[in-house]
Amino acid sequence: MTAGPDPVKIMKQEVGRAAAARVQSGQIVGLGTGSTTAFAIQFLGDRLKSGELKDVLGIPTSFQASVLAKQHGIPLITLDDTDHIDIAIDGADEVDPDKNLIKGGGAAHTREKIVDSLADQFIVVVDSTKIVDALGAFPLPVEVLPMAVAPVTRALEKLGGKAELRMGIRKDGPVITDQGNMVLDVKFDRIDNPAELEKTINNIPGVLENGLFVGVANVILVGEIQDGQPSIREF
Ligand code: A5P
Repeated sequence: MTAGPDPVKIMKQEVGRAAAARVQSGQIVGLGTGSTTAFAIQFLGDRLKSGELKDVLGIPTSFQASVLAKQHGIPLITLDDTDHIDIAIDGADEVDPDKNLIKGGGAAHTREKIVDSLADQFIVVVDSTKIVDALGAFPLPVEVLPMAVAPVTRALEKLGGKAELRMGIRKDGPVITDQGNMVLDVKFDRIDNPAELEKTINNIPGVLENGLFVGVANVILVGEIQDGQPSIREF
């Protein structure tokens, strides 16, 4: 028996396509990180190649995003080259009904928060499995300077979180971020007040950034499968 197409992959692909379709000629685009945004980058590149779009410039949120953008022919600039970003497209690990997010499943949340919050419009692209009633089932990623891992772990435990150092896959030892830091994945029983927790964690000395994105997202595009067909919902 052969397996059918993976529905989650189809949802990611279609929502990536829908977000890329919203980019207009001349825009500066924040390019997010992860498997869903990878499709948006691919479709954006296709639109540039076909001539349907012109003069689009990308600002990558990670090494992965910059590699993909180059592969798909999207010219890149940095935040030194512009005073604005028109639109950012990025994925998320959880989305709550107030459009608050947990990000950082790919350890890229620090650069993502910088780029996504500078954009005039931040479009989040997710498959329907990412929509939750309340944030917190996904362990919260916290980027930490290596010399501060032990005290930050203790401080997070005092806040009620259970912190685990993220380990590499097919690499011995911890995951090292694009900035040369480490990531603690922190499980809280529930996150009742994401805005307060975001600030409290970022106030711990040694923390660079955490994956709570509160009040940053403008549009959430959700890829769904309805009656066996992919569709896109916006909220
Ligand atoms: C990267 O660190 C993350 O913030 C991603 O944007 C997030 O994990 C979503 O990734 P996927 O689109 O691969 O699920």
